[in-house]
Amino acid sequence: MKIGVFGGTFDPVHQGHIALVETAMKELSLDMLYVMPNGNPPHKDRETDKLNRLEMVKIAFANIRGVQVSDYEIQKEENCYTYETLSYLKEQHPEDELYFLMGMDNLPDFFGWREPKTICKLAKLVFFGRSGYTCPSDAAERLKREFFAEVFFLPFEMDISSTEIRAEIGEGTYLFHKLPFLVFQYIIRKGLYGTVAVSEFDCYEEDLKNYIEEKRFLHSIGVSVTAYRLAQRYGEDCKQAYFAGLLHDIAKRMPLDKQLDLCKKIKLHPDEVAYPKMLHAPAGAGFLKKHYELKDKKILSAIRYHTMGCKDMTLFDKLIYMADYIEPCRDFDGVEALRESSFDNLDKAIIQGIDTTILSLVEEHLKISPVLLDVRNALLEQEQKGC
Ligand SMILES: [Fe+2]
Ligand SMILES: [Fe+2]
Repeated sequence: MKIGVFGGTFDPVHQGHIALVETAMKELSLDMLYVMPNGNPPHKDRETDKLNRLEMVKIAFANIRGVQVSDYEIQKEENCYTYETLSYLKEQHPEDELYFLMGMDNLPDFFGWREPKTICKLAKLVFFGRSGYTCPSDAAERLKREFFAEVFFLPFEMDISSTEIRAEIGEGTYLFHKLPFLVFQYIIRKGLYGTVAVSEFDCYEEDLKNYIEEKRFLHSIGVSVTAYRLAQRYGEDCKQAYFAGLLHDIAKRMPLDKQLDLCKKIKLHPDEVAYPKMLHAPAGAGFLKKHYELKDKKILSAIRYHTMGCKDMTLFDKLIYMADYIEPCRDFDGVEALRESSFDNLDKAIIQGIDTTILSLVEEHLKISPVLLDVRNALLEQEQKGC
């Protein structure tokens, strides 16, 4: 077997790590690859708790075929050197070939590592590019000459860094093209990197699984973390945004008669009655009131209007409305542009979204709800007034 080995601090793990592993698996035709977060890296004094880093790596690589996350280095108390890890892996896989992945920026320093010759004997060296870094051509030759190393260069450039991600976590940006959204959810559940923690809602997340199918569950997590990011951007309450996003579709799979029953005390728009797909929004608000005795008007309103919108949407209503539209599981033409504009100007993004919906309704020769036009007109009026 051909086995890849990729170690690092992963503080936090990001999309660049995933893309690198996928490239290595493909380009080197690897049968499997170990991702190995390190426990106590030499020369790095600032770090997130190693068990949290390990958990994030497990989440990020959970669905990548052939990848195994190893806690070997995490479990070691003392500093763990590369030659020791590779010796351990060679013992586990005496018949197999090991391919050790590292950034090209490590190449000049490699000669100063502990036991470089042993490393080259145990594994083939695979270098990948680092943004803004060019490889000194003689270093690879020296490795081959002095240590008889087998050296490979991957056609891959790591253009995301954990340092950059750590800085961006505190800002209100979309972020999920750089950081897997489930990793971000872990970060905010634990309140890592200075974020506002949302672990108090874990029990609601568990409960939600009883009401919706897996795909919609994932969509709900996507909406909750996107709402959290939008709340960071627009100075709203991150916890409330996360909670509303998490539960916004809780009534989606309930039988229609139950949904109607939950809407008994809610004044419905005729279109919500005419199009039963719309009912889950007011029904969701009704359910939260009845089942969880939730009284928070802000959250109830955002869930109640998350599909249709309304003329007088509050900033919080708008956050949930757009988070539902652009969350990371959504994949339609123009979603990237809509994500960008949502974090730039929320009202403009809503208008843009409504325009897209109207155009597709026209193309399909379907009726346009007057509510859609009311929301659009109200936002345009506000824009013209400059507020
Ligand atoms: Fe919905
Ligand atoms: Fe939704």
